[in-house]
Amino acid sequence: MYRLTVTRKAAQCFLGSLTLGTVPSLHLSARSVFSPAVIRPHLRPQRSLAPPLCAFSTATATPVAMAATDKPVEKFRKDYKPSPYLISTVHLDFQLNEESTLVQSKLRIVPNHAESSPVSLFLNGHADVVLESIRVNGADLEASHYAADAQGLTIKSGLPSGEWDLEIATRIKPQENTSLEGLYRSGGMFCSQCEAEGFRHITYFLDRPDVMAKYTSRIEADKAKYPVLLSNGNLVDQGDLEGGRHFTVWEDPFVKPCYLFALVAGDLAVQEDTFRTMSGKDVALRIYTDAHNTSKVAFAMQSLKRAMKWDEETFGLEYDLDLFNIVAVDDFNMGAMENKSLNLFNSRLVLATPDTATDADFGRIEGVVGHEYFHNWTGNRVTCRDWFQLTLKEGLTVYRDQEFSADLNSRGVKRVEDVARLRAAQFPEDAGPLAHAIRPDSVIKMDNFYTATVYEKGAEVVRLYEALLGRAGFRAGLDLYFARHDGGAVTCDDFRAAMADASGADLGGLEGWYARAGTPRVEVGVEHDAGAGTLTVTATQAPPVLTARGGGGDDGRAGDAQAGEQGDSPPPLLIPIRLGLLGADGAQQPLHLRSGPGPDPAGGSEAVLRLEHQRQTWVFERVPARPVPSVLRGFSAPVRLTVRGQSREDLLFLLAHDADAFNRWEAAQRLGTALVLERYGAAVADGAGDGAEARAARAAGEADAGLADALRALLADPRLDGQFKAHALALPDLAELVPEVPGADPLLLHHVREAAARALAAALRPELERAARDNSDPPGAPYEFEAGACARRALKNAALGALARLGGEGVTQDLLARFRAATNMTDEAAALAALDRIGGKVRQEALDAFYAKWKHEPLVLLKWIAMQAASNLPGNTAAVRTLMQHEAVKLSNPNTCYSLFLAFARSPVNFHAADGSGYEFMADSVLQIDQINHQVAARMVGVFNSWRNYDAERGALMTAALRRMASANGISANVYEIVTKALP
Ligand code: BES
Ligand code: ZN
Repeated sequence: MYRLTVTRKAAQCFLGSLTLGTVPSLHLSARSVFSPAVIRPHLRPQRSLAPPLCAFSTATATPVAMAATDKPVEKFRKDYKPSPYLISTVHLDFQLNEESTLVQSKLRIVPNHAESSPVSLFLNGHADVVLESIRVNGADLEASHYAADAQGLTIKSGLPSGEWDLEIATRIKPQENTSLEGLYRSGGMFCSQCEAEGFRHITYFLDRPDVMAKYTSRIEADKAKYPVLLSNGNLVDQGDLEGGRHFTVWEDPFVKPCYLFALVAGDLAVQEDTFRTMSGKDVALRIYTDAHNTSKVAFAMQSLKRAMKWDEETFGLEYDLDLFNIVAVDDFNMGAMENKSLNLFNSRLVLATPDTATDADFGRIEGVVGHEYFHNWTGNRVTCRDWFQLTLKEGLTVYRDQEFSADLNSRGVKRVEDVARLRAAQFPEDAGPLAHAIRPDSVIKMDNFYTATVYEKGAEVVRLYEALLGRAGFRAGLDLYFARHDGGAVTCDDFRAAMADASGADLGGLEGWYARAGTPRVEVGVEHDAGAGTLTVTATQAPPVLTARGGGGDDGRAGDAQAGEQGDSPPPLLIPIRLGLLGADGAQQPLHLRSGPGPDPAGGSEAVLRLEHQRQTWVFERVPARPVPSVLRGFSAPVRLTVRGQSREDLLFLLAHDADAFNRWEAAQRLGTALVLERYGAAVADGAGDGAEARAARAAGEADAGLADALRALLADPRLDGQFKAHALALPDLAELVPEVPGADPLLLHHVREAAARALAAALRPELERAARDNSDPPGAPYEFEAGACARRALKNAALGALARLGGEGVTQDLLARFRAATNMTDEAAALAALDRIGGKVRQEALDAFYAKWKHEPLVLLKWIAMQAASNLPGNTAAVRTLMQHEAVKLSNPNTCYSLFLAFARSPVNFHAADGSGYEFMADSVLQIDQINHQVAARMVGVFNSWRNYDAERGALMTAALRRMASANGISANVYEIVTKALP
């Protein structure tokens, strides 16, 4: 299957698109860079210049260097203190102009400390914010009372006691803002992005999520250029002004932290709909886009209505305002943002038609629209006390969007996809130098903590509650959470307490999941006693294996950074293990638990075992014959599982029979992994001096007959979902295989994987041809994004992709014909990807034809960019450097960068080229992009984090690239944090 790009967010999200936004001027402000001397990693720690009333005190124990303004200061979770002041109301006034924007803010300040006289007040700010005036209770404040610098504004004296009004005027230049945080321009419009700490780029403020206020926002701008002026809440006033200007006033009745503030001004077209809530209220739904894109929002609108309905039905959660707006923005660092009643979306997650978007794109749009909508309760009505608690809203909301998509589509397939992503992105992160707990203990740049761990592992941790409490118990816990905390800013501990209190369950064993990094290991063994008719299940848990930051073993490679088995083991975790037993006929056996913790399944076919000690045993009765156990069904906990004594036959049996779709797929993955690793070993042992490809081909030999037979049976099973079959056919991703091989040669591993896939395709050729034929739509069939149709396309395209590995004139011609005749992007992109695999002249012709057809659709061109960047043609790095000059490539646009650079890093042949040219290209690009957008550059530099997984030569080349970046002039704090943590 064609994959648009890369991993989610350094991981997560979405990533990978392109857009037509205008190119913001390159802004190389001297104020936002470091001087070269200050970024050496081992400088003596520096104290922060932040005033003492700042929420977090400064690191003294960790070597952190100093910069001119963008100071890498490490902040610690343990240092949380409530703010000495709160803000009850905020009145904002924006005068938008082409040269600059005047922001006037009036804050009602409320003391929140026990001192008898006023303490000083520190408001966060940024070097780009220019202070124009400051007034206290209506009178200008004397200059001696306050001081402003690049970090913020301190009012040291002259503060009234009790509540008071603070008025601040600042001037900013959104048109020069290429960082895309705070207020900036994209295309012809003004838009904002304030999470996590962007509001301080707009005005001086208590920029922390536990300061929640009621907002009124007035926006004034030229009416012809910016007919649409939006902010949060309800429109309460609007009118025309002199000089062709106009204004709107918005009032948000709900208290919120400033990270949820949003502003949009532009010449936008709107599509409207309505949703009637469960209590009978009509909500106006509006999606704003550039005029030429209005035809592409129907699916997003439908997804929004489905999300609103689903949240009512599933969690009893109703929308709370009379309107809900979504705006599509071309230049956007992330996927989308949940600002109260004014969600901002990366265009690529809103705009979709069958001819421009793939099934995967539609699925992503549905999920992200749901995700941001669901934040209205999990994030907005109840928010985070501090940013260390980010997983409180993100882990929970990812869990909710996963469930939403599972309910609307195929649950089994969704679970497989989510776990595959977790393993490909989060497991490596959690075993590498940037491993952190889902609730981190310290942070330099908060932007760097929107990670696969906080999001995906965080969602898995929420899923643990569901596994332990059941659906009803989980729902009761969530109900109590809202009852207790609506309107509040709370912690992960508050969430766990609500879950425990609502159910009466002991959930203390979940604490460690928040506090510790790394993937825990679990081993399960079963022993059958034929005489007694019992099955004894034993489970043990062991702490994660982490790669030490700063060197583990003698060679600085894999080591155990945790208190390991030798030292004091951390207290055991609570781990739910979902289990079933299969009889000789493949049917599920009824379960009768004799003893041990966990509810007796009482004859049901599934048990959830509560593993909460280091080692535990359960005895099942009335088990006359040895069953095949199906362990950790549905991936009931994010652990690395070993099933002791599990044979190849057991796995083939599970693949053929397991009622649990996830474990069926898992069996195929385990068989595939074993196959590739065994053949990789043979290729390494092959003494011939020829290239990796030749050695891989010899080692791969014939297909594994057992696996081929099992997959053949799977393909023939009419009851199975086509998407599921497509997933089962795929060998594990390279990202999952690499960590299994100490000191992996990525090139050889890639070629072995390819050769093994080719051998499997050859063995299954007739079945693949049939699958491609039987699942092809008749010419002119309408496209539908619907489970059955998606399943047919998925299987057909997986089969075509596999056949492309075999090559041959017949296959090539068939693919070319399909490419030309395709009537939807799913089939067109899949055919293009297959032709890309075939290479040569057809590849180039297809790419050229694709460009000619889609050159006016920037989102489609993202696919074209990513496909070329990820190519495994030897020497493609030079082609990618050339591609950077193409008119379709706009480096100020994050989607373009993700499609270009993160896709490139997925090419084992070129990123990992033995001469280091791929690493050099990537490092050059990181430094170039860091001058434009720190957040994007920091995402890009993450591709070097895995250097310890590779052979010594590559490890040395990758660390050399990291060192070069670390010592380059003027890198951002964002990039600084990642490179210094990644280095030994
Ligand atoms: N709150 C985030 C967006 C965000 C994160 C903005 C960090 C600024 C900084 C939003 O809810 C989110 O999580 N978006 C995801 C997509 C989601 C489906 C996981 C994203 O942007 O990748
Ligand atoms: Zn989110």
